[in-house]
Amino acid sequence: MSAKIIDGKLISKKILEEIKIEFEILKKKKNIIPGIALILIGNNPASQIYVSSKAKICNELGFHSAIERVDEKISESDLLNIINKFNSNKSIHGILVQLPLPKHIDENKIIEAIDYKKDVDGFHPINVGKLVLGQKCFIPCTPLGIYELLLRYQIETSGKHIVIIGRSNIVGKPIANLLLQKNSGNATVTIIHTGTKNISSFTKEANILIAAIGKQNFVTKEMVKENCVVIDVGINRTTDKKIVGDVDFENVKEIVSAITPVPGGVGPMTIAMLVKNTFSAAFENEKF
Ligand code: GUN
Repeated sequence: MSAKIIDGKLISKKILEEIKIEFEILKKKKNIIPGIALILIGNNPASQIYVSSKAKICNELGFHSAIERVDEKISESDLLNIINKFNSNKSIHGILVQLPLPKHIDENKIIEAIDYKKDVDGFHPINVGKLVLGQKCFIPCTPLGIYELLLRYQIETSGKHIVIIGRSNIVGKPIANLLLQKNSGNATVTIIHTGTKNISSFTKEANILIAAIGKQNFVTKEMVKENCVVIDVGINRTTDKKIVGDVDFENVKEIVSAITPVPGGVGPMTIAMLVKNTFSAAFENEKF
């Protein structure tokens, strides 16, 4: 039997429609237009596409978006000045610096310079700390998108064993912390990574397997348990310029109960969650 396809494109569209309705109501009441600053450094083609799609979707909803394109040779101090300018701009509620950064710029310094109340990416150490402590905060967009997909497809996480492949600060660590909390997952969580021995012995135990490695066809059907749920976070470009995930989708879908496709799974959810976080930054000041 073939798996249920978890349709991130459809769910993200629904979420954006829900936000639009809420926004129209709140705009009349409070006269606020949510604003986001998107800082794009250099000419990385993937980053350019991501930033343009983020701005496009914000604009379609009637949010204000400002794309700040800067040369990849920009100095760290000039970049910090740009961030400070947006920190004190009252019409900007969210600030996103697209990663990766050029090598001469210290990523930690840049992330820490963003006002944590405008950190819609949820990368600032204050938001990371709050997430670990189970406090209200900005949650990184991809993990939040995965959580929302599990909720909307009514996939039980409580008491389940969730295995995450990858320990990145953007996906692996935050999704582990989110699903671990009693009130947002209540799962038993295992993170496996490049230092893990005998990876299959862990993946085969998973009720829910989250793949965030960045390697095409990394997860094969021999590595998963029958009827498990597979969430594929990978975005890999093939030699013939197709976008594929980390999972051997065609073979794995034959034995699991549900799976996200690539494209059309987690990707669109990431952008929808950025819109959600920007909306919260503008309207839920009491969050902090
Ligand atoms: N690069 C890859 N994913 C992301 C993301 O979610 N946010 C930012 N700022 N950069 C990224």
